[in-house]
Amino acid sequence: MKERVLSGMRPTGALHLGHYHGALKNWVRLQSEMECYYFVADWHALTTHYENREVIEKNVYEMVIDWLAAGLDPNQCTIFLQSKIPEHAELFTLLSMGTPIGWLERVPTYKDQQEKLKDRDLSTYGFLGYPLLQAADILIYRAKYVPVGEDQASHVELTREVARRFNHLYGREFDYEDQIKRVLSTLPADSVKRLEKSRKKFQELGDASALEGALGFVNEQSHLSTHDRERLTGYLKGTGQEILLEPLALLTEASRVPGLDGAKMSKSYNNSIAIREEKSSLEQKVRRMPTDPARVKRTDVGDPEKCPVWQFHLLYSTENTRAWVIEGCKSAGIGCLECKEPVINGILSEQQPMLERAEPYMSNPKIVREIVEMGTEKARRVAQATMQDVRSAMGLNY
Ligand code: TRP
Ligand code: SF4
Repeated sequence: MKERVLSGMRPTGALHLGHYHGALKNWVRLQSEMECYYFVADWHALTTHYENREVIEKNVYEMVIDWLAAGLDPNQCTIFLQSKIPEHAELFTLLSMGTPIGWLERVPTYKDQQEKLKDRDLSTYGFLGYPLLQAADILIYRAKYVPVGEDQASHVELTREVARRFNHLYGREFDYEDQIKRVLSTLPADSVKRLEKSRKKFQELGDASALEGALGFVNEQSHLSTHDRERLTGYLKGTGQEILLEPLALLTEASRVPGLDGAKMSKSYNNSIAIREEKSSLEQKVRRMPTDPARVKRTDVGDPEKCPVWQFHLLYSTENTRAWVIEGCKSAGIGCLECKEPVINGILSEQQPMLERAEPYMSNPKIVREIVEMGTEKARRVAQATMQDVRSAMGLNY
């Protein structure tokens, strides 16, 4: 069985090259290696933009088209919409009962974002709780890996703590002791004795090999149901059952694409190139890019290290072209417009297949909706199954 991956993105409208090189390209690669669930985090968009109700719907489908254009294949991965699966909200509510407020206040993005987005009132309950909503998003799919950027690593860490606490609080059934007794009674007495000894060695002395031996034995007991084997495993480890899985962050390397002005590419800085940019607009944007400030006149020499265009050559140009840039820039042998041509061509050829892939979806938006609906159906079944276990662990299945 393939390992499960889950990730989400806020619907912020047309995605740019930073999203592509920083996240999406990685999502595309993972879809053939693992069982991937990718979702539109529309509720998350509301945690910071709760007053803009008109933008969200358009942004949702525009972003999904970008995903498909970038190469996500609905036959290989599951694409869905968060707000269509209310189970995320249910798990969020249940988790919120036992999550200390301090855990949320200490998430680094909480204070950071409040300071960065000064023009918005973010002293809301939803904004404080948003990393816990993210934890619910992840835990409800029992995902093993969560591809995220460095900025989101603390959210995955919080998710692990929340899962651990949940399993600790609710991983034991009401009749836990009786259940364990019953399971043990199906094993030969001398094996039970050895298991008890190993359990003690592990829990009191931290003897990992004792635990390993005992777990090996448990796994060989084919007469036990999966559930009973899990019970016994929890008993030996002292953890109770693993109802929610602690996920691991799959850190994506920070995107190496700077914005047109050399700062981080961001829509709000107005320095971005969309992943499906119009050809003429792309040409214009790149031609207007600032270059090494020392090159005022065509005859002034420059230094690529001081020029944002060079960062694009690093991403899009061949060795030969780069050598041509260094030589031409330092000797004033080439002009900046000339230097930018290969960058324009590089981006255009990267985007050509994306534009082609997007075309059928643009002309028939119904297909996009169908893809999202199908993915949502599939994701919902997984979410519902987890919620059954969660409800019963919390004593809510009456
Ligand atoms: N918080 C993420 C962001 O702002 C989006 C997100 C929501 C997410 N839920 C998630 C990412 C679960 C990974 C897993 O970019
Ligand atoms: Fe930048 Fe190229 Fe101009 Fe040099 S020649 S300053 S690298 S755009």
